[in-house]
Amino acid sequence: MTTAASGFEPRVFSGIQPSGNVHLGNYLGAIKRFVAMQESHNCVYCVVDLHAVTVWQDPIVLRQKTREVTAAFLAAGIDPSKHIVFNQSQVKEHAELAWLFNCVARMGWLSRMTQFKDKAGKNRENASVGLFAYPSLMAADILAYRATHVPVGEDQKQHLELTRDIAQKFNMDFAGEIDRLGLGLGPDKAYFPLPEPLITGAATRVMSLRDGSKKMSSSDASDLSRLNLTDDVDELAKKVRKAKTDANPLPESLDDLVDRPEARNLINIYSGLSDQAPQDVLTEFAGADFSKFKPALADLAVATLSPITLEMRRLMDDTDHVDAVLRHGAEQARVLAQPVLRDVKAIFGFVS
Ligand code: TRP
Repeated sequence: MTTAASGFEPRVFSGIQPSGNVHLGNYLGAIKRFVAMQESHNCVYCVVDLHAVTVWQDPIVLRQKTREVTAAFLAAGIDPSKHIVFNQSQVKEHAELAWLFNCVARMGWLSRMTQFKDKAGKNRENASVGLFAYPSLMAADILAYRATHVPVGEDQKQHLELTRDIAQKFNMDFAGEIDRLGLGLGPDKAYFPLPEPLITGAATRVMSLRDGSKKMSSSDASDLSRLNLTDDVDELAKKVRKAKTDANPLPESLDDLVDRPEARNLINIYSGLSDQAPQDVLTEFAGADFSKFKPALADLAVATLSPITLEMRRLMDDTDHVDAVLRHGAEQARVLAQPVLRDVKAIFGFVS
């Protein structure tokens, strides 16, 4: 099969912002998949601090959250001796390529980004320029490594499409120079691959424990709405116990959960934590009340998450180690990104 990435060495890139708490949604939706992809791919995992500062971040908290996301990566099983783990701001090629992509991307493209519209809200005049240009930076993150596969949530799909648009426009606009310099790869002699999103399905999306129609989020005012990876055993159990549910017992079939978002969410969480299909979980608990299901879910959450939370806490007390991992990762990332920037600058026609 030829894809828009054929001719390119397969590589996975993904990033998580160091803003807010690392919670179960990040773990099941992203980090757990990042861990699994290590078996089959070369992976680059980035703590995207330059993205975080597109909205205000307290400097002390930013530093702490950067280490917290890194600790979550490591505690969950990402192996920095086999793959690359680093924070974005230590590799200046991201910012440099983002500038060049700002000159490739069109105002119209960025104006259509729904995440910008949501985040800027009514007060667009007061949003940072960085928030508007955010997707160019994301394209730079991915393409600085000529990455071919990007595991992301549904909400990032539009940004991935924009990344492909930028890659494609660059490949087309500079086709002559790419060819003259002999830098193209694959059947189309393209410089950049068109990276494929690997979207976390809506069925596995983790929703708020207080409102099954909202995504679990670190910005939710209620801490009861999420299981944080820094919660201790008692907090995890309490939050599961207090999770919103309805008064009916669990049905036999998933079809009967369509109008019961909270119940569906708890089944999904159980499924994600136990690596069982949601239907298999229902089959096991069909007819049971939440008074029976919730303790089972709490036990499962504690059993699967507490080894990770304990290791995370240990790592967060060892900032020297975490910082050393990030510095080493940044060095390795630079080894890949520097030659790409050298090529791109030559393709643009900059004198060096
Ligand atoms: N925008 C992503 C998010 O908020 C984070 C991100 C930044 C990212 N750069 C990336 C994800 C590159 C994948 C690839 O979730």
